[in-house]
Amino acid sequence: MATEKTIVLVTGGRYLTSDSSSLTFQANGGIGFEIVAQLMAKGSYHVLLGSRSSEKGDAAVKDLQSQNLPGSVELLILDVTNDDTIERAAAQVEKDHGKLDILVNNAGIAATTPPLREQMRNAFDTNATGPAVVTNAFGPLLQKSTASPKILNLSCGVGSITSRLDPSRPGYKLQEVQYRASKAALHMVTACQWVEYGPGIKVFAFDPGFTISNIGPHHIAKHGAKPASEAVKPLIDIIQGQRDDEAGKFLHKSGIYPW
Ligand SMILES: NC(=O)c1ccc[n+]([C@@H]2O[C@H](COP(=O)([O-])OP(=O)(O)OC[C@H]3O[C@@H](n4cnc5c(N)ncnc54)[C@H](OP(=O)(O)O)[C@@H]3O)[C@@H](O)[C@H]2O)c1
Repeated sequence: MATEKTIVLVTGGRYLTSDSSSLTFQANGGIGFEIVAQLMAKGSYHVLLGSRSSEKGDAAVKDLQSQNLPGSVELLILDVTNDDTIERAAAQVEKDHGKLDILVNNAGIAATTPPLREQMRNAFDTNATGPAVVTNAFGPLLQKSTASPKILNLSCGVGSITSRLDPSRPGYKLQEVQYRASKAALHMVTACQWVEYGPGIKVFAFDPGFTISNIGPHHIAKHGAKPASEAVKPLIDIIQGQRDDEAGKFLHKSGIYPW
């Protein structure tokens, strides 16, 4: 009898082409895309690649399908700041799959254009409100899962309030208040989700570490950013249940950050 695949939604599965910037991005870079690729390589997952752009999403899905990985993938149009697309996406997943096993709230933004009010509004909308609203829409489908359901929120160490006040922390001088504050808000969203959905649904915040991506101009190898392939491996371990005993916490690759 064929084993049923675990259904995973990854928001923000961006596909970076080498000409998407003058900087040295790898083709297929970006954390969301890499999560999808590594899950497909396992063979036991059907991945819903969330993208707000049908063009970029199609390109990502075509690239992944051309790699003959044992898992499967489909495009799900979803803008985490747009309620209509979120509701449509949840209705589609309910119709096609009847449940969701793993939700990875990966979509995020960092630097936006001043004024500060706009930067704060945009960062909160995408990084904190987005994961809250997406999880609210997909929560009933996660509750139908019998395959050890999980919610993973991609955060960042710079969103830790405890670390923010510690001058010995790397990046202490980095201001980026919109990014820091929106990720701190995501931590409260995570805690609320854990209280609401746990322990049946395991909820985590996770920091992938400084990674090559399109999130900012400094996220390149020259500045010490690591490849997404490396950053994503510990997140796959979480998805596979290896850190279930740390649910409800803010994890990094080898331990726990303070909130
Ligand atoms: N890179 C790092 O060093 C690092 C470190 C810690 C945490 N993180 C976190 O990791 C996550 C992924 O970031 P990344 O580094 O891979 O950045 P990235 O290359 O800029 O990718 C961000 C992804 O989010 C998508 N996105 C942005 N706004 C969206 C929206 N409203 N609706 C749907 N998708 C949206 C982007 O889609 P488009 O292509 O349509 O813009 C893109 O697919 C973020 O949450 C980030 O905060 C990254």
